[in-house]
Amino acid sequence: MNKNEPNYERYLIIGLVLTLLVLAGFSYYWFGETARLTHAADEIAAERVRHGRTVYMDQCLSCHGAEGEGGVGPALNDRKVLKNTLDTIFFSVIRSGVPGTDMPAWSVDYGGPLTDEDVRNVVAFIRAWEPDAPIIEPVVFVPDAARGALVFETTCALCHGEGGMGTDEAPALNDAERLGALDNAWYRGTIYNGRPAKGMPTWGTVLSPNQIDDILALIDAWREGAVVTAAFSATDLISSAVFSLGEDDVDSAKLHVTRALEITDGKGFEVLTNAAAQLVADDNAGALVTLTALKEQWPMGDANIGATLYAEKCAVCHGEAGEGGIGNPLQPNEFIQTNSNAALVEFVLEGRTGTAMAGWDGRATNEEIANMIAFLRTWQP
Ligand code: HEC
Ligand code: HEC
Ligand code: HEC
Repeated sequence: MNKNEPNYERYLIIGLVLTLLVLAGFSYYWFGETARLTHAADEIAAERVRHGRTVYMDQCLSCHGAEGEGGVGPALNDRKVLKNTLDTIFFSVIRSGVPGTDMPAWSVDYGGPLTDEDVRNVVAFIRAWEPDAPIIEPVVFVPDAARGALVFETTCALCHGEGGMGTDEAPALNDAERLGALDNAWYRGTIYNGRPAKGMPTWGTVLSPNQIDDILALIDAWREGAVVTAAFSATDLISSAVFSLGEDDVDSAKLHVTRALEITDGKGFEVLTNAAAQLVADDNAGALVTLTALKEQWPMGDANIGATLYAEKCAVCHGEAGEGGIGNPLQPNEFIQTNSNAALVEFVLEGRTGTAMAGWDGRATNEEIANMIAFLRTWQP
């Protein structure tokens, strides 16, 4: 290299370093700005959800449930609904409502109480459920032989005999040969249309299609040689037994008690056994007292099982020791003291509209609720 030549290489390096510095500074600013913008957008979204929650709790909870689980209105906190419904669709359904249903129009444009901003907020609130939304299976009708047996015992057995064994009035239906030779389409047609001139009523105008499907499920079970117990409700049977005794119809009372015994266990079974013994001993007045008391205490749950269920399902809101929280204190609680077990089961199943006490129908069985109520009773003086 010639000594007198300027050192271009040096300028080049300085230039390069300067360029890099400018770039670095710029990108530092750029990324920082993007993060600032994202943060601001998150803030706005969170604010929307907060406002939307207030709108939802005030206006929508009563029909769609505290957690969007549904009630009078459909479930909104459902992965399929959320996935298949765009925000714009939610927006317009909520604004205009669904005419001809219980879903009111909410927009001020349609005489409702909400501005478009309110509606956008409530949509954001509903949308925020999506990441954790459960999959809610639609209720599909599945024919059930036990339910079919209930219809059969109360409707058909009079002529066709208990368990379809036949009487002098009408032929046996639980007959392997006939069942093997004829298919369900034939049974459906015969049951639906009847043979009115020959003493077989027309059932198509009396029973619902679902009830006829339940009877066909019973017929399937008979075809396989199964013995099916009718899905009587013990609550109804006990109540019917009390009614029959009140009418001095002791035979019917016995029949109700026998049926109730077949489907009851635990504490209720013991009391029913006592009532049955009183009826056999012709102590009808005694049986009436026993059954009336049983009716009042029905359903009888198991407090030990109830304690575990309570901790799982109710303690979040009512407190571990029933001291209250989001829900009111249950130890002690006047509402519990002044309501029957049956009324409390009904209450817990349905919940209290417009409050965070959503119904437990579908989330707890009647038996589980009876157990929890038995447990709540241990907290009352
Ligand atoms: C008085 C009861 C009631 C109230 C209150 C109510 N809804 Fe509804 N909502 C319904 C019913 C019923 C339907 C179903 C209408 C139908 O049959 O299509 C429904 C449908 C919807 C749907 C459409 C759901 C779908 O899957 O198609 C959305 C979204 C909805 N409601 C949001 C809301 C919001 C948000 C509020 C509160 C601002 C609200 N609802 C208040 C009863 C109600
Ligand atoms: C009032 C009495 C009566 C009642 C109640 C009644 N049936 Fe019948 N059913 C009859 C008589 C009688 C026959 C036979 C008619 C004949 O002689 O063809 C019959 C026939 C039938 C047959 C055809 C049997 C065969 O093998 O050919 C079916 C199936 C049947 N009934 C189903 C039912 C069902 C299910 C119910 C209840 C929903 C019911 N019946 C209620 C009187 C009754
Ligand atoms: C998400 C919170 C929440 C859960 C979970 C919950 N509750 Fe409640 N519950 C409430 C609220 C809130 C009330 C009061 C409603 C009102 O304001 O009238 C209430 C009221 C009740 C009452 C009526 C009390 C009274 O004095 O009126 C009973 C009984 C009750 N709940 C039982 C249960 C049982 C049993 C469970 C569990 C299966 C349960 N709750 C789960 C929130 C809840």
